[in-house]
Amino acid sequence: MMTGFNSKIRTIEWIDTYSKMVDQTKFPEHFEYVNITNGQDMFDAIKTMIVRGAPAIGIAGAHGIVLYAQELEKQNLSREEFVTELLKKADYMASARPTAVNLMWAVEKQKEIIRNSKSDIHSLIEELKVNGKKLENEDIEINKKIGDYGAEVVPKGATILTHCNAGALATVGYGTALGVVRSAFAKDPSVQVFADETRPRQQGARITTLELTMDGIPVTLITDGMCSYFMKKGMIDMVCVGADRIAANGDAANKIGTYTVAIAAKYHNIPFYVAAPLSTIDTSIKSGDDIVIEERSHDEVTHINGKPICAEGVNIINPGFDVTPHELITGIITEKGILRPDYNKSINEVFQSERVIL
Ligand code: MRU
Repeated sequence: MMTGFNSKIRTIEWIDTYSKMVDQTKFPEHFEYVNITNGQDMFDAIKTMIVRGAPAIGIAGAHGIVLYAQELEKQNLSREEFVTELLKKADYMASARPTAVNLMWAVEKQKEIIRNSKSDIHSLIEELKVNGKKLENEDIEINKKIGDYGAEVVPKGATILTHCNAGALATVGYGTALGVVRSAFAKDPSVQVFADETRPRQQGARITTLELTMDGIPVTLITDGMCSYFMKKGMIDMVCVGADRIAANGDAANKIGTYTVAIAAKYHNIPFYVAAPLSTIDTSIKSGDDIVIEERSHDEVTHINGKPICAEGVNIINPGFDVTPHELITGIITEKGILRPDYNKSINEVFQSERVIL
């Protein structure tokens, strides 16, 4: 059994001049940190999923801008040249993965600093570091609020089905969907989780079961095709998943397979919740049809642990995400409360007001 993990750790953390993160490609055998010291390595860490999960890659992107800024500072550019180059690097960083809007959101937060600051280059870099650290700290606070709101709708003794990993390791800490589980379990230790394996990269098996086991939260691993079987048997009380991008009408992109779970939940009359920070909501997108779906390497489908599992040369298609239509979503659990249908209305309202909607 792997040692070293405990869910209180930070998945990603800025330290003086570099970003320290848990290497999520090594699970479940090894728990290792990697220090990312330059912008290109951060781009690659996001792309190759050393760091993954929508909120975590957002923070990684914010750190990546600081790394690029540190490199550019050494090139003796004029302030104007520095800003122009850094904004180009920021756009490049935001393109590392296309679906999770948190990456673009966090990079945009850093671009606002770059555009608005009047400071000299050195002080501007300090401002970017402070902002990166702020986003990092806020992520944990936001997740705890999501957890507390979500716990209110978890039935006593519930079995909660989740898909992929929307936990501490997909965020800076605590998690979104698994934050709901953590907060519910703290109040009611009879709560338990069913975790979908989540092919092709098995984040459910490799990461969700790990996180929950280490926290002493009972978890049962099932393969992706099993969910409707257990729903029919009355063994699932609620579904709670994360999201990578939510459109203005509530359509929610999440790891491939989520849509299937949502359809099964609707058929069996089981509440289906999405837990996500407001930074995951992209109000510039009217519906899920406009969400860009990442197409990932075919090796993820043809191989498991480096071993082929199919005929050589077979046709492969590997979208990383799907979109659950808003009609299938019971509520969207955010740090400002639980948004309910009509989502066009409730999403619009939550961005207009500080009021908590429950
Ligand atoms: O491809 P991944 O592992 O980055 O996908 C992660 C997911 O789909 C998560 O469910 C989503 O990002 C929410 S994380 C709080």
